[in-house]
Amino acid sequence: MFEPLPEDLADAIAAAGESLGTFARLRYRAEVESTNDLALMLAAAGDSEGTAVIADVQRAGRGRRGRAWHSPAGAGLYLSIVVEPPQRAGSLPLVTLAAGVAVAVAIRQATALPVELKWPNDVVIGRPWRKLGGVLSEAASTGSSVLAIVIGIGLNLQQAQYPRELAGRATSLEAELGRPVSRAVIVVEILRQMRAIMHRLRDDDAARLCAEWRQLGAAGLGGHVCWRENGQDRRGRAVDIAADGALLVDVGDGRVERVIAGEVNWESLPRG
Ligand code: BTN
Repeated sequence: MFEPLPEDLADAIAAAGESLGTFARLRYRAEVESTNDLALMLAAAGDSEGTAVIADVQRAGRGRRGRAWHSPAGAGLYLSIVVEPPQRAGSLPLVTLAAGVAVAVAIRQATALPVELKWPNDVVIGRPWRKLGGVLSEAASTGSSVLAIVIGIGLNLQQAQYPRELAGRATSLEAELGRPVSRAVIVVEILRQMRAIMHRLRDDDAARLCAEWRQLGAAGLGGHVCWRENGQDRRGRAVDIAADGALLVDVGDGRVERVIAGEVNWESLPRG
C-alpha cells in the first residue's frame, strides 16, 4: 500500500534520530485521494499515535467546512498524523488547537517566518493576513468510541494556481521567504513539535496550551466574525479562547458567547 520514502524524507527522519520517538513512522505514497483517508484507515486498523502519511499530490484533498483542498503535485505539503484521542471528554477542540500550535511553532523554528494562527488553526502571515495552510482534524471511531484523531496538515510550499476564490488570500512559504524551502525539514520539525505538544496535552497542561495559542493567535482576535446558529446569522468580535478551546465572541451589550463548531467566517482584522 505504501512506497519507500523519497531520499530527502528518509534522510531527514534518520537524522532526527530519537527526537521523534514514535512520530518517526512516516509512510509515503506519491499520489493519494487524501492523506487523511489513509491515516484514518491505519488508525482504524490499530496503528497508534505517531503514524503519519505523506503524499506528493492529493486527488481529493479535503479542507475544513466541506471544502476541497487544492493539492497540486510538488507545490504543497500534504501530511496526516495519527494521535491518541484526549483522555478527558470534551477536550477534542483542544487537540485541534494544539495541532495548530505545533504546526505554527514548527514553521517558525524551521524558517523564522512570523506565522500566526487564525482560530481554530489556519496558518496565516501578515496584515492583512494571507493563508499559508490549515489543519483538518478528523476522528477515527467505532460506534461511539473515538479510537484516534487524525491531524491533516496542508501547507503551501510553493506558489501554485490557486482557485480564484483563494488566489487573493493564499501565499506560500517560498513566496514569503523569497527562496525555496525543504519539505523534509518542515515535516521533521512538525513531527517533533506534534510529539512534544501531544505529550504536554496528556499531562493535562491545557492552560499552557491556551497561553501558547493566544501568543500565536493574534491574527484573528479583535476581528469581526459571523456564524450561523439555529438558522440565524450571528455576528460579533472575537475576543479570546476559552479553556476548552472554544472561541469567545463579544456580541454586544456586555455579552460574550462561545463558538465551538469552527463555522465562523472572519470578516475583518484588527489593524488590517
Ligand atoms: C483547511 O481547510 O484550512 C484545512 C486544510 C487541511 C488540508 C490537509 S492536506 C493533508 C490532509 N489531507 C486532506 O485531505 N486534508 C488535509
